[in-house]
Amino acid sequence: MKHFKFFSYFVLFFLTSTPSLSLMAKETENKQTIEENNYSTQDLIDVKHKIDKLFNIKEHDYDEDIGDEINQVCAGCHEEFGMGGKDGKYPRIAGMPVKYLLEQVVLFRERKRPNIPMLQHVEERELPNDELLDVAIYLNKIKLKSRLSKIDESAPDFDAYARLQEAKATLQIPRAKGDLKKGKKLYRKECKSCHGKQGEGDNEKTPMLAGQYTKYLWRQIDMFISGKRLHDEDDPEEEFLKSFSHEELQDILAYVSILDD
Ligand code: HEC
Ligand code: HEC
Repeated sequence: MKHFKFFSYFVLFFLTSTPSLSLMAKETENKQTIEENNYSTQDLIDVKHKIDKLFNIKEHDYDEDIGDEINQVCAGCHEEFGMGGKDGKYPRIAGMPVKYLLEQVVLFRERKRPNIPMLQHVEERELPNDELLDVAIYLNKIKLKSRLSKIDESAPDFDAYARLQEAKATLQIPRAKGDLKKGKKLYRKECKSCHGKQGEGDNEKTPMLAGQYTKYLWRQIDMFISGKRLHDEDDPEEEFLKSFSHEELQDILAYVSILDD
């Protein structure tokens, strides 16, 4: 009898709680999507404009040891030399402009650019601004190679450890599908003025596109088009990227994928 009572309580609990639980899950799901977009273009612009007030880049007393220490946190996802991984789930961040790195981390912190996995590692109490600037400079200084140097691995003085370190700092983006000729023409005409002839960025506020995972770049283009990220302050509706067909963008990204070969 006792057992039966316990069992029926259990059934009762299950019957009453299950529908409300699933409803709750749905509500949080909805809330999240609303929250993700709960900001205006002006909010995004405001965050970017305050970077110069938050960080004194020019007069900062750079501490490489702190940069290295903080980078070990970032490396948990972005890998030891900031090269990213998991086919672009984690983007390459090595060599990116200091100011761009700061801007993006602050946008994440202030929930103006979606990134749930990274948040807990970059909140100000975890990562004070001085240390954030150190790691941004540290990452900016990492120059990733796109090809391993030619050496004879069977030579007597072959240094396996050095070779392993070199391999870890080499990032080869696989060639993306698309028409390279059309992509090159479009890239030179439409993207080069800001992202550079070789996709190297401007080392100020425009990121490099060369040596970045194609899947990651696609995801960002989708975010620009859907208004979750701001590409250009002067074009808040993103008329620019919206004016290209999917095929044209694919051709551009195919060309970008071979830029640092
Ligand atoms: C728990 C995983 C995780 C950790 C740790 C992490 N990140 Fe990230 N980071 C991500 C993910 C995921 C993205 C991509 C978000 C997207 O797809 O838009 C990202 C994106 C970025 C970007 C944007 C790059 C671009 O080109 O737009 C920057 C900058 C960045 N991270 C810096 C850092 C720094 C600096 C640290 C260390 C202080 C760090 N991240 C630690 C997961 C992480
Ligand atoms: C007027 C200058 C300008 C032009 C032209 C331009 N971009 Fe950008 N692009 C930027 C800036 C600035 C950013 C950084 C936005 C931010 O701060 O979040 C960016 C970011 C990006 C990103 C995200 C990279 C990352 O690491 O997260 C992609 C992808 C991109 N641009 C693609 C393109 C393509 C493709 C073209 C040409 C069709 C193009 N852009 C033309 C200025 C420009």
